[in-house]
Amino acid sequence: MALVPFGGLTAEATKPSDSAETAFVESLLARMTLEEKLGQLNQPPGIGNDTGPKAKAAGTEQVRKGQVGSFLGMQGVKLTCDMQRIAVKESRLGIPLLFGFDVIHGYRTVFPVPLGEAASFNPVAVEKAARVGAVEATAHGINWTYAPMVDVARDPRWGRVVEGSGEDTYLGEVMAVARVHGFQGKDLRAADSVLATAKHFVAYGGAEAGRDYNTVDISERTLREVYLPPFHAAVDAGVGSIMASFNEIAGVPMHANGPLINGVLRGEWGFDGVLVSDYTGVMELMNHRIAADPTEAGRRALEAGVDIDMVSDIYRKDMPKAVRAGKLPVATVDDAVRRVLRAKYRLGLFDNPYRNCDESLEKSQTLTADHRDAARTMARESMVLLKNKGNVLPLSKQVRTLAVIGPLADNPRAMLGSWAGMGRPEDVVTPLAGIRAAVGPETKVLYARGTDINTADTTGIAEAVRIAGQADAVLLMLGEAEDMSGEANNRTSLDLPGVQEQLALAVQKSGKPVAAVLFNGRPLSINSLQEQVPSILEAWFPGVEAGHALADVLFGDYNPAGRLPITFPRNVGQVPIYYAHKNTGRPPREEERYSSKYLDVSWKPLYAFGHGLSYTSFRYDALRLSRKKIPADGTLQVEVTVTNTGARAGDEVVQLYLRDDVASITRPVKQLRGFRRVHLQAGQSQTLTFTLTANDLSFYGADMKPIVEPGSFTVFAGGNSVDNLEAKFEVTAR
Ligand code: BGC
Repeated sequence: MALVPFGGLTAEATKPSDSAETAFVESLLARMTLEEKLGQLNQPPGIGNDTGPKAKAAGTEQVRKGQVGSFLGMQGVKLTCDMQRIAVKESRLGIPLLFGFDVIHGYRTVFPVPLGEAASFNPVAVEKAARVGAVEATAHGINWTYAPMVDVARDPRWGRVVEGSGEDTYLGEVMAVARVHGFQGKDLRAADSVLATAKHFVAYGGAEAGRDYNTVDISERTLREVYLPPFHAAVDAGVGSIMASFNEIAGVPMHANGPLINGVLRGEWGFDGVLVSDYTGVMELMNHRIAADPTEAGRRALEAGVDIDMVSDIYRKDMPKAVRAGKLPVATVDDAVRRVLRAKYRLGLFDNPYRNCDESLEKSQTLTADHRDAARTMARESMVLLKNKGNVLPLSKQVRTLAVIGPLADNPRAMLGSWAGMGRPEDVVTPLAGIRAAVGPETKVLYARGTDINTADTTGIAEAVRIAGQADAVLLMLGEAEDMSGEANNRTSLDLPGVQEQLALAVQKSGKPVAAVLFNGRPLSINSLQEQVPSILEAWFPGVEAGHALADVLFGDYNPAGRLPITFPRNVGQVPIYYAHKNTGRPPREEERYSSKYLDVSWKPLYAFGHGLSYTSFRYDALRLSRKKIPADGTLQVEVTVTNTGARAGDEVVQLYLRDDVASITRPVKQLRGFRRVHLQAGQSQTLTFTLTANDLSFYGADMKPIVEPGSFTVFAGGNSVDNLEAKFEVTAR
């Protein structure tokens, strides 16, 4: 079957812009020299906070000449505002600068890593987390963040799985919108709003073999159904910028992918914001071997719609000649410049270039009690109770002796995870500190590290076993180091690193009640723990308030309700494994040899998407549909009642899935279409209503156009992606 070319549009199709904005941008553009235009597209290399005086002087000179449009990694009011003054007062046209920084899960008040935040299934809390990041970053001179990362990730070997919202497209859309709103606030011109960046466009998470930056080769269908929607949602939410991804797709590197950038993003979706390259992404077109020299790399990137050259220094150095030699139309440069100027206009920088120059805010808006509170709330909401046999958790605060064991118990840096902004280890409440602060004076807390995170050394295990023997309960703090996930930090094993499993099993033999807490940036294959340790809590990397949030959960002051935003495999060989898979012609069946499964391990996950327990229990009933039949453009109300059947108050994440039972193109076995995190007192019931619209029922037909097909659909409702109530309805032909 021939593929329909992406979008098919190549011209920029901008939304009708504000006319004052257009008039302003056009009049400025008309006064710019070619060098000044390309300067706006230049984000120079080697000039950030840690640069030596020579590079700084050279950078300052470039700013004076109008050859810089933005900086990467420069922050702090003094530095950024000195530069801003030079740009505004000493360059010919006085165009203000953008200051870009990776505010990914907090600036100084570090929140849980994004994968953890997604596990909260609470977009309101996630929006708040991004808001706090924006408030702190803008107080330090930043006006542009390189977040949210909205890459769907179905391969936990890939280190950057930690930075996104996991495997699901719908959850990814919801979290993308929450974060864009949080960063950009209600009004981009407000001094505490930052321009957000949805990244990395697109299918970066599809890297072969889970190796960062690696080749991607996926169908247009998968691209449109799985990877593109969170970007589309971010665009609809008004995201100001988008970053291109390092990967190629089917032979075309994204930094030269006109059909996807100018075609889909700008043409089909009407995105009129700015597109920034990733770090040296323009130059890397030479490594991709689609450009022989910098001039060709720059030309291809600009023609594809990459507006800003992050640190390749090719637009500034090589493009003036290319334009003058007729290799690149100046109109292409102009379009890119328009988009950069518009971003600056929308931030209000032309009216107030010093909007982020109040030095007093640096102190007053940093690591405030409110920000820490928000981080603690977010952290405990992100924790997922994977297993709790015999209700080992919650622990009583009256326990006489508690043994806290493991390499993550007192490791402040690890709690921050990767891309930790300006977070500092000394700001962190470690698990050990949080537990000590939570218990009364009668409780003795013993501590042994047992082993390092990633070592073969087992000599500390004996001491750990010894203190476990003295304790009434044992808490194991296990997982990965902060730099075992994140950019370029890929793994071929999903097991607990080093000898931590050995430590856990040795301690488990003490016969004491044991709960394991995991700190990690990706799903781990923890089969032995699942088999032998009664309680397991997934804490991700929880941020500065790690210890307090954890103690809240461990001692039952907070009832955990996070859910897995990504499937946990039994071993790395099952990867990719995700709940929204296709049925195949031979779906796996135990008794059928010739079905889609393995000889050596079950095809089922260790923990499914959406899984997460509570200290209370919930019952679902009365799944009701407002109609049994709807037309293709109709809507349907789905009601379900959930009851807290246990003895404690708690949150439940009610999840709604949908399946198109028979379609002209194969469809996933189920897809998340709605969720709500609700709080229920013991014994309390609540009936929730979800509305399904044509948008939820549609898919891309054989011609790659969205379609709703008549026929049977199944609705699933429950507290995870497996144990669901079901009901059917029909879409009728018109
Ligand atoms: C990463 C981006 C990041 C950029 C700037 C790159 O290496 O891929 O996600 O925004 O660096 O720090």
